[in-house]
Amino acid sequence: MKLELRGITKRFGDLVANDHIDLVVEPGEIHALLGENGAGKSTLMNVLYGLLRPDEGEILVNDVPQTFRSPGDAISAGIGMVHQHFMLVPVFTVAENIMLGAEDTKLGVLDKKKASAHITEVSQTYGLPVDPEAVVETLPVGVQQRVEIVKALTREVDLLILDEPTAVLTPQETDELLEVLRGLKAAGKSIVLITHKLREVKAIADKITVIRRGKVVGTADPGESEDELAAMMVGRHVQLVVDKSAAEPGAPVLTVKDLSVVDDRGHRAVTDIDLEVRAGEVLGVAGVQGNGQTELIEAIMGLRPAVSGSVLLGGAELRGRTTRQVLDAGVGYVPEDRSTDGLVKEFTVAENLVLDLYKSEPFGSKLVYRPEAVARNAKDRIEEFDVRTQSADAPVGSLSGGNQQKVIVAREMSRPLKLLIASQPARGVDVGSIEFIHKRIIRERDQGGAVLLVSTELDEILALADRIAVMYRGEIIATLPAAGATSEKLGLLMAGVTGD
Ligand SMILES: Nc1ncnc2c1ncn2[C@@H]1O[C@H](COP(=O)(O)OP(=O)(O)OP(=O)(O)O)[C@@H](O)[C@H]1O
Ligand SMILES: [Mg+2]
Repeated sequence: MKLELRGITKRFGDLVANDHIDLVVEPGEIHALLGENGAGKSTLMNVLYGLLRPDEGEILVNDVPQTFRSPGDAISAGIGMVHQHFMLVPVFTVAENIMLGAEDTKLGVLDKKKASAHITEVSQTYGLPVDPEAVVETLPVGVQQRVEIVKALTREVDLLILDEPTAVLTPQETDELLEVLRGLKAAGKSIVLITHKLREVKAIADKITVIRRGKVVGTADPGESEDELAAMMVGRHVQLVVDKSAAEPGAPVLTVKDLSVVDDRGHRAVTDIDLEVRAGEVLGVAGVQGNGQTELIEAIMGLRPAVSGSVLLGGAELRGRTTRQVLDAGVGYVPEDRSTDGLVKEFTVAENLVLDLYKSEPFGSKLVYRPEAVARNAKDRIEEFDVRTQSADAPVGSLSGGNQQKVIVAREMSRPLKLLIASQPARGVDVGSIEFIHKRIIRERDQGGAVLLVSTELDEILALADRIAVMYRGEIIATLPAAGATSEKLGLLMAGVTGD
């Protein structure tokens, strides 16, 4: 399909999210859309997919102007979309999810057998194995993603939009996805790919368009260096790897001993873990998603009971305390899933910035709430962390994905902490903000804080950690100094290979 966007403009009140955007995607082309958080990428794709009506501009498919009143219209024109936030119904099976809303497409009636056969056919054609009968919530994220893609492909799309598809994928899942995209391209499909990961863009894109503050700032060739692409996205030089000196670790702050935790299904997720984080050091927990990191952190945070073991903060037992009490004890927490744990979408940005703190000074006490202090704090944090929002009083749910993440990081890193627990702190965040967040984590360390960093991104672990613990199947199978660690070695450890 040849797709052409001409002069697309979309406003939200006074905010111009898309400002006369022109974009051409040729048949069989993988076109990467780059831009900082809040640049307008998702908005543009939502316009193209019929979820939002543009205020101005035209969409042409194979040179014919289109009017999309709903995703149904876009789908009929051969456009499919995999959203930034998954849209699957967790308790439904794969087949049920894929059939949802398909009534008005070529798939036709809700015939389960026919649907399953069709799904199997699509998965075989494109090398995307999925089990039509599996319940979505039991599937790993990478497979859920595959379901989304199969869902789009069952509707016979010629152009597939993927909005940050790799943000929650493991390195292996990412490689598999890139392979799938190459296959789709070979089958003549056009692809629009949104991602903050420049390496992926360089690996797979045929063409790159960069947008900033709603406007196209230029196109680039995948041959450009990551430095050049980063600078084009944010309009300044970005330091991709943070400068830091050697750690000067002090007394132990967090001591975890013999900790065992079970997952939601009652299976052992963490087995007899010991770990220690000292003042002034960053301990990085590396591992492929799903090896117990989530349960480990939830147990430390009082979000999930531990089966046995102890969690000491400066010598005091945290086990048995509520999450509120753990936070009050001086633990900052950036959760891995911002949409379920970190934010209340309907609350304003200002309120979300004091979510755990509104009952404490200076924002209030048990009895009072001080709106002026909350507003002042919001103004400062928004400036400091470069949160792009129309106002401090906008609901946090109206912010772009990366800016929502910045709200959490800003809140958690702006009070005195003994320990910062950061899970995937840079998830969905643009290169400029990653630079900033990474600097802040190192600053926290240099001021004597202890930092427990959990990340599936090896680059992030290698950039920030002083020591690295590798988790595999619920255990820490190795702890090593970061100096001298290589991604090859860590990659092997993450796959459970411990021999030299
Ligand atoms: N429904 C909405 N109401 C009000 N403002 C909105 C709405 N949706 C998006 N915006 C605003 O439009 C701008 C562009 O947001 P968009 O989600 O398109 O950014 P993005 O480029 O996808 O960013 P990210 O990389 O963080 O996902 C942001 O300033 C955002 O706050
Ligand atoms: Mg987005």
